[in-house]
Amino acid sequence: MRVIEVRRERAGAEQDAELVRAVHRAAFASDSGEPVEVGLVDALRADPGWLPHLSLVAVLDGQVVGHVVATRATVDGAPALGVGPLGVLPAFHGRGVGTALMYALLGAAQARAESLVALLGEPGYYGRFGFTAASGLGVLAPDPGWGPYFQALLLAAEAPTGAFRYAAPFDDLG
Ligand SMILES: CC(C)(COP(=O)(O)OP(=O)(O)OC[C@H]1O[C@@H](n2cnc3c(N)ncnc32)[C@H](O)[C@@H]1OP(=O)(O)O)[C@@H](O)C(=O)NCCC(=O)NCCS
Repeated sequence: MRVIEVRRERAGAEQDAELVRAVHRAAFASDSGEPVEVGLVDALRADPGWLPHLSLVAVLDGQVVGHVVATRATVDGAPALGVGPLGVLPAFHGRGVGTALMYALLGAAQARAESLVALLGEPGYYGRFGFTAASGLGVLAPDPGWGPYFQALLLAAEAPTGAFRYAAPFDDLG
């Protein structure tokens, strides 16, 4: 069996930033040019909401094949986490890479006593990690039109309720 290693994104001389860009460029590829997720990760890395311990890469046979990041968000002004983007190179889909990244992220978040994680995504995918519609947990999406696609997961018995705000670079996505 091939082992999927999940580790923190490296900064400094041997940094993973370009490999992370390549992951999201391929994972979110479309006909309309550079995917917004590529620039989003770079903007997040430069933002005060960046949490280095929650930017994780998945490595298979020495190759970076996936990336996920959670950044500082707020719920009614209290600290929370916003997840995204999560991307896996298309050639490696369906091998558990996304699952490994998400479980590693959630474990790292819980170890740091985070109370709530939220994201915008497919309920059919994120339900397996325990995410449910955020509105049912009293967490209001930045855009009410997101409906059930805005999901949250409680990591603690006590978690804030109210309006969710992502780190600032998400506001520039339009
Ligand atoms: C979504 C993504 C990260 C999943 O990564 P992955 O490594 O292929 O995922 P895993 O191998 O851990 O899990 C595969 C399972 O997820 C399911 N799945 C993948 N994308 C899904 C989606 N959009 N909706 C519902 N289920 C999905 C697969 O059907 C498969 O199901 P199974 O376990 O019942 O067979 C990857 O497909 C990807 O990078 N997609 C493009 C970018 C993207 O959409 N990111 C998420 C943004 S919300």
